[in-house]
Amino acid sequence: MKLAARMGRLGTETAFEVLARARALEAQGKHVVHLEIGEPDMDTPANIVQAGQAALGKGFTHYGPSAGLPALREAIAEDFTRRRGVGVKPEQVVVYPGAKPVMFFMFLALLEEGDEAIYPNPGFPIYESMINYAGARAVALPLRAERQFRADVAELATLITPRTKIIVLNSPQNPTGSMLTSEDLKAIAKLAAEKGIWILADEIYGRILYGAAHDTVLRYGDPSRIVILDGFSKTFAMTGWRLGYGIMPAEFAVHMARLQTNATSCTAAFTQMAGVEALRGPQDAVDRMVAEFRKRRDVIVAGLNALEGVSCVEPQGAFYVFPDIRGTGFSSKDLASRLLDEAGVACLSGTAFGKHGDGFLRFSYANSVDNIREALKRFAGFLASARTAAKA
Ligand SMILES: Cc1ncc(COP(=O)(O)O)c(C=O)c1O
Repeated sequence: MKLAARMGRLGTETAFEVLARARALEAQGKHVVHLEIGEPDMDTPANIVQAGQAALGKGFTHYGPSAGLPALREAIAEDFTRRRGVGVKPEQVVVYPGAKPVMFFMFLALLEEGDEAIYPNPGFPIYESMINYAGARAVALPLRAERQFRADVAELATLITPRTKIIVLNSPQNPTGSMLTSEDLKAIAKLAAEKGIWILADEIYGRILYGAAHDTVLRYGDPSRIVILDGFSKTFAMTGWRLGYGIMPAEFAVHMARLQTNATSCTAAFTQMAGVEALRGPQDAVDRMVAEFRKRRDVIVAGLNALEGVSCVEPQGAFYVFPDIRGTGFSSKDLASRLLDEAGVACLSGTAFGKHGDGFLRFSYANSVDNIREALKRFAGFLASARTAAKA
């Protein structure tokens, strides 16, 4: 088979491969604790499920507008305006099947061959993959444990060239749980506005917070060049519904909707009606979920820091930890692979998030406290037997 050359530039998300390997081990009768995949383990709240079911009964089973149903675009604009304190209009909202298309379509719409886009590394692997696929050069902005994985704005400034078209921000961040401060956002917004650079602000974990308040770059930057990416997957445990959105200049939204017309026509109508209920209905399920994640975060951070050779920064948001494992003597890939095969703990090598993730692992703590404790016990047991084997 001869694929188009651009396919050689397309990356992937290792979480799905590790999940498949873990499932294969389970099929052989092995027990695996799943800390690899980035999705809440809770069910979608019942009021949202019921709204989706009711919409099916009411005939929301047809094509709809490419940019999304007016009811949902309005609900999103209202929600953003109220929550983030920056006024947004429905014409600025485009609804997609998941949040991923926002980044894909934005890169396709803006990046020319030879352009550059700066993205966080370690970071969500699809940024790098899709920037490359769009024909541009993906420029890594390293995030370092010494800075609690917060981007260094001075370093970001040194990466900007006349070809820089887009800067990607992600706060709270996958895979590190780090957050940008309002001061960071202000400084980045200023840099971008001065140079006419677009910003893609991935705020998908914006409501999964453990203390520090979330702020949006839209408050500080040039609104004619900012796209906010958000969605329902993480906040409302709706990964399988496929529902996300972008908030952008209204003029740009027309083109981002045109890409959707070409790719998928529109987002499923009944799913969008469930989204209206998610935003307009009671929010207590979200609060409960975040409280539960916080408990798990505390257990996993303490447990990892108690392991010899492992040190873990406390995340401020999202549901991931990114421990430094260099003190164990293992490489990231080797350790992730052996933890799965020998200890039945599925996690990801830090390198799945880019070259600056080398020396780290990513655990998703979207699993019960009991399972997290079991994984920590297995990890400790694995390290102890590796040390014994090394001495023998
Ligand atoms: C940082 C980040 N952005 C976007 C997404 C994609 O979200 P969705 O499943 O809604 O497409 C994810 C999912 O893991 C993510 O971690």
